This record gives sequence, C-alpha cells and structure tokens, in this order.
Amino acid sequence: MTDHNVTLHTEGNDASFPLIEGSVGPDVIDIRKLYAETGKFTYDPGFTSTASCQSAITFIDGDEGILLHRGYPIDQLAEQSTFMEVAYLLLHGDLPNRAELDDFTTTITRHTMVHEQLATFFRGFRRDAHPMAIMCGVVGALSSFYHDSTDITDPQQRLIASHRLIAKMPTIAAMAHKYSIGQPFLYPDNSLSYTGNFLRMTFGVPAEPYVVNPIIEKAMRRIFILHADHEQNASTSTVRLASSSGANPFACIAAGIACLWGPAHGGANEAALNMLREIGDVKNIPAYIARAKDKDDPFRLMGFGHRVYKNFDPRAKVMKATADEVLKELGKSDPVLDVAKELEHIALNDSYFIDKKLYPNVDFYSGVILNAIGFPTEMFTALFALARTVGWVAQWNEMIADPEQKIGRPRQLYVGATRRDYVPVDQR
Ligand code: CMC
Repeated sequence: MTDHNVTLHTEGNDASFPLIEGSVGPDVIDIRKLYAETGKFTYDPGFTSTASCQSAITFIDGDEGILLHRGYPIDQLAEQSTFMEVAYLLLHGDLPNRAELDDFTTTITRHTMVHEQLATFFRGFRRDAHPMAIMCGVVGALSSFYHDSTDITDPQQRLIASHRLIAKMPTIAAMAHKYSIGQPFLYPDNSLSYTGNFLRMTFGVPAEPYVVNPIIEKAMRRIFILHADHEQNASTSTVRLASSSGANPFACIAAGIACLWGPAHGGANEAALNMLREIGDVKNIPAYIARAKDKDDPFRLMGFGHRVYKNFDPRAKVMKATADEVLKELGKSDPVLDVAKELEHIALNDSYFIDKKLYPNVDFYSGVILNAIGFPTEMFTALFALARTVGWVAQWNEMIADPEQKIGRPRQLYVGATRRDYVPVDQR
C-alpha cells in the first residue's frame, strides 16, 4: 500500500513519513512516528484532517456527494435492498445470498425479545424522560443482562453481541415510547419484518390487531438504511474510542448513543423539525435566514451543512422524495413541508449558503416524514440510534479485528500555567 514518502522539514531536522494510498479517496500521511522523530505533535481539533483508523466499510466523497457502503451507492441500497441486507453487508462485507440472508434474518428475529427484568428497569425512569436518556441507560444496562457476550476477545461472543444489539434496539426504542405515553409494552411479533415489527411495537396496542401500512414500512426501511452508517462520524468515533480500552460492546454502544444525542449530530432531526415549526410560515423565512447569517446570533439552520458533504448530501435527496411519498399516502398536507421546501429553495440561492457550501443534510426532511408517521419529536434521534447501531457494531467489530488498533489516546497543545508552587489558602 505504501508507495512513497513525504518529507517534513523542521528546524535542522528532516523527517520522512510514508504516504499510504486507500482504494479510493485522499492518501494519508502516516505520522505515527512523528513524535519519536521530531518531538512534535500535530494539532487538529475536531479531526478535520486526521484519519483515525483504516476502514473498509463506508466511503464518502463529500465534494461529489457520494456515499458507498462496501462499494454500493446509498441510493441503490435505499431503493432496492432491505435493512437486513444492509445490516449483513455492513457487518460481513458482501451482500448475502438468499440462504445467508434467511439465516441472518432468522437470527436477528430470534433475538428481538429483551430480558423480562428490563421492563422493571424502565420503571426507574420518569415518564417524561427523553427517549435518548432511556436508551443510554437501558443499552448500557444490557451488559448486566447478557454476560455471555461481553468477552470481546471471542469472535463468537462479538457476533452474538452484535446480533443482540441490532435485534433489541427496535424493542428498546419502542418500549421507551410506550413508557412515555403510559401504554403497555408490546412483545415483538416475529412474523413481521424488522421495520414492520418496530412500527407495531411503537403504534400497536395489545387490545387490537395492528396492520402494517406497506408505504409507511417502506419509508421507515429507507430511513433506517439512510442512517445505517456514515464512516467515522462523532458517535462512531466515540464507539471506537470507548471500545479501544477493551470496554464491553453494550457500554460502547451506550457511549455512541450519548454522543449521537447532541443537536450538531443525531439531535439535528429533532432540532430541524422544531425550527421549521417555529418558522411556521413561508413569510417568516427571510427573518430566519438573516439570523442564520448573522455572526452575532448563535442561530443556525438546523438540517443544513455537513462536515464532509460540500456539494449535496445524497441521503437528503432520497429523504425529500420519501417525504412527498409519505404525505401523499397519508393524504396529509403539512405546512411544515411547505416551509422546508421554500427554506431550501431560498437558502440554496443565497450567496452565504452557496459560498460556505451549505446544503440540506439527511436530517432536514426526515423530521417531516417521522412527524407525518406519528412519531413524537423526542423519538426522532432514538430512531437514528436504532438504525446507526448497525454501523456502530460493524465498525466496532472491524476495529477489534484490526491488529493496528491501540487504545485511543490523543495528545494536546498545553496552554495552561507553567510549574508554580502551592500557596497555603490563608496566604493567597
Ligand atoms: N446555518 C448557518 N451557518 C452555518 C451552518 C448552518 N446550519 N452550518 C455551518 N454554518 C457556517 C458556520 O457559521 C461557519 O461560518 P464561518 O466560517 O463564517 O465561521 C461555516 O458555515 C462552517 O461551519 P463549521 O461549524 O465550521 O462547520 P463544521 O464542519 O464544523 O460543522 C455541522 C458541520 C453539521 C456541525 C454544521 O454545519 C451545523 O451545525 N449544522 C446544523 C446542525 C445539523 O444539521 N447537523 C446534522 C449533521 S448531518 C447528520 C449527522 O451526521 O449527525
């Protein structure tokens, strides 16, 4: 993989570092020996120029608006595959054949129930707890229920933990919703698809049968696929960093959920819908655009901009089409969708957003769809966590199997006080 070297000139000392080529995308300069050879660190807050690992799972070209999972374009997967196929693909590297898919689907389906004691665990939360608060707690607590899949040195236990996490996440997310509205928990129904089962556990009641609407099921499947993985984003990097110490998978995924909760990351879908509701009417858009452009105003257009995509977010295109489809199916016209479309139109023609390469991201339209389906706003990020669990466990497995990985331990540029002597309190 290493073709040539890059030379760094420092005071009186030239040091040479290997340039490593990936299969596609920018080359990386291997600076692992930088400190040993020059006595210097690099400084890169937010990791804008740092590859923290090598990975064969997801590729993004932000300038071209390309997102590939194991080489397959996201729009093809969103249109043609099932969530189980994508989960298998991310975990195992190739699309499954029929027998492999059936086997995988059966395995995931058989792990959908949670330990009965978990229902009691839920009761410790306030009814008005945010579902992400519940998800952090309950997913972390899985490590106390499933001791037989926490030995990360055993590949079989890692696989079982991965299956458990993918399978139980819809059950836990649905339970978080049911708990908040005071309805009984529903056990999974293994005759339904992954998505259909989740819809039933969320919106069904034990008193009557629940019929899955195929258009809604398709929309949810697409939303899950679009959120399944996204390379080394903040929450995935959190999962990797947490697990680099050897922590168990349930604790690491709980760490990922905590990171995802923030409004700059997974919390943006909730924030975007709240913002669209606050704007309320297309006539108010110019005032909000002006606020977004005002350097002294912390307001940002939620659902706009991305660290990597600087042309368009390919997920946003599919999401916009899905929003139209779902509203048509449900026979709903949502003024929020009109505000979203007009806001997108105005922003995309405004020099501030053009110059800064700010485009709608995956979260801009997802809230409109989830709202139309009937999810409360607080559930949006929980759904993102549910889908991203597949990416998190795939990245976690890849990391543990990678012989080059070590405990994550960044260094710092220290700018605090230099050495000084302690002064007793009455002399200060
Ligand atoms: N509205 C107005 N201005 C913005 C926005 C926005 N949404 N996003 C970035 N900018 C401006 C920002 O003020 C800065 O301007 P200047 O150079 O004059 O200081 C410039 O664009 C670059 O912004 P940045 O914060 O340095 O860029 P970043 O790569 O660190 O941040 C981001 C990326 C996604 C956190 C940011 O665009 C943002 O906060 N967007 C809104 C939240 C959002 O929608 N997040 C979901 C991301 S996609 C789903 C996910 O991955 O979780």
